[in-house]
Amino acid sequence: MQISVTISRFNPDTDTSPRMEPWNVQVEDGARVLNVLERIHDMDPTLLFRSSCRAGQCGSCAVKMNGEPVLACTEEALDGMVIEPLDLPVIGDLMVDLVPGINDIPRIHPSECGTNPTQEDVLRIKPLRDCIECLSCVSVCPAMKVTEFLGPTSMRSQMRIALDPREPGNRIREALEQGLFTCTSCNRCWRVCPKNIETPGKAIEKLREIANREGLTLPRHQEVAELVRTTGRSVESGKHVFLDLVDEVIEPFGDVKREVGFFVGCMFNARLPERAMDMLEVMRHAGIRVIIPKDQVCCGSPLIRTGQTSIINALMEKNIRVFQDRGITTVMTMCAGCGATLKNDYETPFEVKDVSEILTETGLPPLKLLQTTATYHDPCHLMNGQQITKQPREILVQAVERFIEMPAMCCGSGGGVRSGLPDEAAALGEMRRTAIRKTGADVVVTICPFCEYHIQEHSDKPVKNLMTILVEALGEKPTELS
Ligand code: FES
Repeated sequence: MQISVTISRFNPDTDTSPRMEPWNVQVEDGARVLNVLERIHDMDPTLLFRSSCRAGQCGSCAVKMNGEPVLACTEEALDGMVIEPLDLPVIGDLMVDLVPGINDIPRIHPSECGTNPTQEDVLRIKPLRDCIECLSCVSVCPAMKVTEFLGPTSMRSQMRIALDPREPGNRIREALEQGLFTCTSCNRCWRVCPKNIETPGKAIEKLREIANREGLTLPRHQEVAELVRTTGRSVESGKHVFLDLVDEVIEPFGDVKREVGFFVGCMFNARLPERAMDMLEVMRHAGIRVIIPKDQVCCGSPLIRTGQTSIINALMEKNIRVFQDRGITTVMTMCAGCGATLKNDYETPFEVKDVSEILTETGLPPLKLLQTTATYHDPCHLMNGQQITKQPREILVQAVERFIEMPAMCCGSGGGVRSGLPDEAAALGEMRRTAIRKTGADVVVTICPFCEYHIQEHSDKPVKNLMTILVEALGEKPTELS
């Protein structure tokens, strides 16, 4: 088959910036990206790229295909694909400098007083040992762009060492110096990992648990944990609290097409209740009955992400019980962080769906296009935590006249970084400001309360929740609480 491909070419000795070079090549059906690169290399032997095992085992062939890191030897080639180097220092064309990143990965130092791993130890270590050091995770990590964070695979290695009894010493202080608390829990490293290693959940949060046991949790994170312990909520109540403002059952205007339970989340409950009110207005028009148990509590996400897990089981049990007692079979979340936590950290007897999934499945009420140009910010806990990217866009393009894409990147508000390391959060927020300006959009739309709150501080344009946009497109007035 014939494949057209665009390749990034760059010679650091002669070029000031990369140039994109188009090629048409003939390859077998089912060809991999690496086959295409080799065919081009046959015609132009100056093309630089790496490969070795050709079987997804050595990690040397990682490149970006259409903006996403992939292993060239295992990824199927697509007609029209764009191939670029990973976002790391480029030696030439598609070849990047892997040496500094690989040298940074902590290694085990077996000690005489250590013991050999048991079979159980080996099983616990195994998910963290699958790394092939391709550095795809390092190339996408937002924290590494603005801090000295050593990176996801280094933290993965620190946790792997922590589980290995051959090295009985404790390296938690070393992990802290290497930036353990700078990770924003965006989960991008997990999503681009060719070996599907869940570094944030299986390494970084576990290392933070060890830090917590040793009294090394950041003071601001401890305050949040204390608030959850004493109030059941991670955000202090403001003037208006959503759960105090609404009835337990909200009926739609017409026939009931569907019924959902609503998991509110602390941010929408206490800091942005207007957005949750806007969502209820949309649900009324969409024919969806919403049940809102008043006795629900914090999902526990701020505690899990920061390694403070001593009361997590109690929070989980309570939240599951309040929905189960009411016979609710679908729980809807509107906060991306709560949704990712309920889906990934809980074992629920009910299904959990984001509001954008509910609305695209049930159908939107008739809307009038708003005369504006909107861009969309992907919340990490929705994009990486729940793999939801299409549904919010599907909704947004039905509500605004013009939609313009913006490259996805963490805004810096997650993982306890906004509260614990505000300078880092601000630096990432400023990167969003630049990206928003480049789009030329009039309004930035998102769906996560943390992103909305944080980006608004780093944007010259208004930031609106998708539900507020829908209320406007319904011809209604968004909720204002005085
Ligand atoms: Fe070894 Fe692709 S060549 S992973």
